[in-house]
Amino acid sequence: MKSLEGPRILVKPPGPRVQELLKLAGLPPTQYLTPIAEEAEGIFIRDPDGNVFIDFISGRCVVNVGHRHPRVLEAIRKQLGRATHGLTEDRFRLERELARVTPGRFPKRVSYSLSGSDANDGAIKLARWSTKRPYIIAFAGAYHGVTYGALSVSSYLPRMVRGFGPNLPGIYHFPYPYCYRCPFGLQHPECDLRCARYIEDYAFRSYLPPDEVAAAIIEPIAGDAGWIVPPEGYIRYLKEICERNGILLIDEEVQTGFGRTGRWFAIEHWGVEPDILVLGKAMAGGIPLSAVVGREELFQRDGQPFAHGYTFGGYPLACAAALENIRVIEEERLVENAERVGALIMKRLMEIKEGCSIIGDVRGKGLLIGAEVVKGNGSKEPGLEEASAICAEAFHRGLYIIHMGSYGTATLRIAPPLIITDRQAEAALNILEEAIKKVEKSRI
Ligand SMILES: Cc1ncc(COP(=O)(O)O)c(C=O)c1O
Repeated sequence: MKSLEGPRILVKPPGPRVQELLKLAGLPPTQYLTPIAEEAEGIFIRDPDGNVFIDFISGRCVVNVGHRHPRVLEAIRKQLGRATHGLTEDRFRLERELARVTPGRFPKRVSYSLSGSDANDGAIKLARWSTKRPYIIAFAGAYHGVTYGALSVSSYLPRMVRGFGPNLPGIYHFPYPYCYRCPFGLQHPECDLRCARYIEDYAFRSYLPPDEVAAAIIEPIAGDAGWIVPPEGYIRYLKEICERNGILLIDEEVQTGFGRTGRWFAIEHWGVEPDILVLGKAMAGGIPLSAVVGREELFQRDGQPFAHGYTFGGYPLACAAALENIRVIEEERLVENAERVGALIMKRLMEIKEGCSIIGDVRGKGLLIGAEVVKGNGSKEPGLEEASAICAEAFHRGLYIIHMGSYGTATLRIAPPLIITDRQAEAALNILEEAIKKVEKSRI
C-alpha cells in the first residue's frame, strides 16, 4: 500500500462490508465519509472493502510521520518486551529531546499527559499557580479541547459549549486576527494590528487589570476556526504585550507541532519564544501522549513542585514511540519536506482558486493549508453546503478530506502526512480539483 501513488477505489464507498459495519453502528450509509481502517500505512487507509483512501488530514494531524511508521512500531515492540508501566529511561530522555526541539533557549521542564485537552488544563493550572494571578486571555474561534479547562479557553462552536456551563471563571476572549474576515472590518497592514492593540488600549484600561492576568493562550495558527494564519507582526506584538505586563505566553501547538507547518513548531515562523508550550496529537507518531513544556522556574513555587500529573502520563510505550518519532522527523528531513511539498500544494491551490469562484481564500504554512469555501460568484458568504459536497465528492474518489470553521465558515483542511511525495500530492490535488469543479458547476 505504501508505494501506491494514489487511491484505489474498487467499489463505490460504502461497499458491502462497510455497509454491514455502519448498520452495526446504527449509521446511514450516507454518513460514510471517514474511512474505517482495516489497515493503514503511510498516507493510506484501506477499508474493509479494499478501497484505499489517501488520508489528506493525517488522522487530524496525528500521523505526521505517516500511519504505522515502521521505526515507531519497532520502538513500541521493543518497549513492550521490557516494561509497559512505570518510570523508564526514555521518559527522561524524551524530556531532554522535547526541551531541545522546542523554541526557547532556556532550561525547561515537562509535564506529561494523554490528550491535548488535559495538557491544556495543565498549562492553565501551571500559569495560574506559578504567577499567582487568576485571569487568562484566550481567543475567539479557538479549539483547545473538551475538558473543563480546555473548553473554557475554547470558543469554537456554540454546540461545544451549550448546556455545559458555567465554565471556568476568569477567561477573557479576544478576536483572533482573521484577516479574510476581519472582526474590525479593517485591512492589514493599514489596520496597525487593531485586534492586538484592543487588548492593551481597551481591556487593560477598563475591565481586565493586566497585573492580574496569568497568561495568554493562543494557537499560533488558529486550527479548527479555519486554519487562520495571523498577519505579520501579530504574534510578536502579542508577546510584547505579555512581556510588558508579566503575562506568560502559552503557545498551543497541539495541532501545529512536530513539523506540520514546515518548522518544528509554528510559532518559530515569527521568531517568538513562548513561556509554555502545549503539545499533543503527533507527539508519539500515532499513539496517545501530550505534554506541557515550560520554563523550568515555573514548576517550582515557594519551595514546592507543581502538583499535577496523571497515572498514565508519560507511559513507557508512548515515550519510546515519541523518541523514535522525533528521530524519524529529523533523519527523514520531514520538516523540510513539509515546507517543500507544502509550497507545491499551495501554488496549485492558488491556481485552482484563480479559476474558481467558490474558493475564497487559500492560506497556511507547510503542510497545514486551508482553502476557505464560499458561495461564490462574488459572494464571500460561507459555503458550508458546498464544502460538505466537495468533501463527499473527494471521498468517493478516494481522497479523505474534511472541512471545519468557526462563525459558520467552512475551510477545507489539507494536512497530509509529512512523508507525502510530490506525485502523491499531485494525485490528491487532481481529485480535489475535480471535486471542487464538479460542485462549482452544480451550483451555477
Ligand atoms: C489545537 C488543538 N488543541 C487541543 C485539541 C484537543 O486535543 P485532544 O482531542 O487530544 O484532547 C485539539 C483537537 O483537535 C486541537 O486541534
